[in-house]
Amino acid sequence: MIPFSIPLLLLVSLCFLNISTISAQSLCNGHAELCSRKYSNITFIGAHDSAFVGDSPADNQGISVAAQLDSRIRFLQSQAHINSFKTLSLCHTSCFLNDAGPLTTFLSTIKTWLDKHPDEVLTLLLTNGDRTDIKQYDTAFKSSGLNKYAYTPPAHPLRFDAWPTLAQLISSKTRLVVFMDYGANSATVPYILDEFAYFFETPFNTLDPTFNQCSIDRPPGAKPDGRMYVVNHFLDKKITEGDVKPEDIGTKGKGMLGDIAGGLGGLGGLFGRKKRGLGDDILVPDREKAKETNAKGGGKGSIGAQVGKCEGLYGRMPNVVLLDFVEEGQGVAAQRVLNGF
Ligand SMILES: *[C@@H]1O[C@H](CO)[C@@H](O)[C@H](O)[C@H]1NC(C)=O
Repeated sequence: MIPFSIPLLLLVSLCFLNISTISAQSLCNGHAELCSRKYSNITFIGAHDSAFVGDSPADNQGISVAAQLDSRIRFLQSQAHINSFKTLSLCHTSCFLNDAGPLTTFLSTIKTWLDKHPDEVLTLLLTNGDRTDIKQYDTAFKSSGLNKYAYTPPAHPLRFDAWPTLAQLISSKTRLVVFMDYGANSATVPYILDEFAYFFETPFNTLDPTFNQCSIDRPPGAKPDGRMYVVNHFLDKKITEGDVKPEDIGTKGKGMLGDIAGGLGGLGGLFGRKKRGLGDDILVPDREKAKETNAKGGGKGSIGAQVGKCEGLYGRMPNVVLLDFVEEGQGVAAQRVLNGF
């Protein structure tokens, strides 16, 4: 017996050893290098206005949210508003002009994706310009089931260096980090984190293709120390309101509603301009320049060029670089380089 049982024991223990090495997190967001890194020490390439997908002038992305995730984008930003049916929807400033559907549908897409990808950590940044009651967001998260993945920090706000590692987020099955720009309330909904308690952001609505700045735009007067930061690396261009036909606008909100809103001079509102009225210049995402804007490095205005400026100013890499048209250029390759591998 004994001569057999020792090798058997050895074999059995080897098997256990094997299992335990397999179950220890070996890849985090596709990279072993990221497992031991704190969340606050990782650079994510993000999809700006991720839900506005299509080929109209108002759209920011060319591929679906699921396709963005499949292409290794792990940070999704989107804006939500209440539409005329009282549904919390992903609308581009105005639900009359561009309503990309209920927030719940978007959250369900993400839930399905996370279910299928157990080694991935994802971040959602929701903008809540209308300051809709946080409880309505909570309802949407719960009805999609996505709340079960959401990370709740042990303290609000969590200190910059107190963030868990990706491996810890994965093993605790809290693989979704949710931020909101305005209206978060950790006392009511503890897993929706107040963006500006954690981050500063560089300016948006940029018209300068060289992105020759990395200044702090929001929150006003913020100090960089102790904060993560978002670089808004997406380029807009000016068009004249009279140049856009109502049928060009939006994907779902076009047609009658588009005509009405277009007739009211609502286009300026769609693109977030302060001045309104026919003939005004309005800003739209610059699709034609997306390849150069989203280039990994090299040219002026590339991701690498702006990030270099940021690193010079703040002594560390950005945590998020938000892009329009993530399918163009080399955002994902840049993500690897910015994380140092
Ligand atoms: C992570 O830490 C390293 C070492 O301090 C630093 O060089 C890098 O810029 C940091 N990255 C981020 C996103 O904070």
